[in-house]
Amino acid sequence: MCHFYSHVCIYTPKPSTHPPPSKLPFLRPESLCLFSPPIYLAVKGVVFDVTSGKEFYGRGAPYNALTGKDSTRGVAKMSLDPADLTHDTTGLTAKELEALEDIFTKVYKAKYPIVGYTARRILNEDGSPNLDFKPEDQPHFDIKDEF
Ligand code: HEM
Repeated sequence: MCHFYSHVCIYTPKPSTHPPPSKLPFLRPESLCLFSPPIYLAVKGVVFDVTSGKEFYGRGAPYNALTGKDSTRGVAKMSLDPADLTHDTTGLTAKELEALEDIFTKVYKAKYPIVGYTARRILNEDGSPNLDFKPEDQPHFDIKDEF
């Protein structure tokens, strides 16, 4: 499925008995574009499209705070504390790192398409390309299906 289809602009003019006053596009206030933008979340520098998990990540959903950023630490610690919503894994316990690997593989990689990588994952600190970078293998998705 192409995720770009999810934010196509829908314009539904109502039938009107009055013709538009000019040839300019005739828009009613209720005909605003309906956007449902994709929802992204990064874990370990891998950006996933979690739109299909709207019940977890959508507006008002329990894990909405994890979205729009790299939330590696929060996922590892099962924490939604804003201080934990970061890529930083400093000081995590062996158990937390194990939980992180588990959720990364069994939830994110298994369920959601990868749409990219954070700069931190593909660049060195000085901004040069990280030559050791390797894209994740994802058994159920192929990057060319997404674009
Ligand atoms: C009382 C506390 C919690 C309960 C009862 C709970 C319950 C659940 C349940 C039942 C699921 C599985 C849903 C499914 O696969 O259908 C789930 C998934 C998940 N939970 Fe929690 N949870 C709690 C707290 C947290 C916290 C604090 C985090 C913080 C990061 C968290 C992160 C996640 C994640 C990342 C998933 C996977 C969502 C996905 O499939 O995309 N949970 N939780």
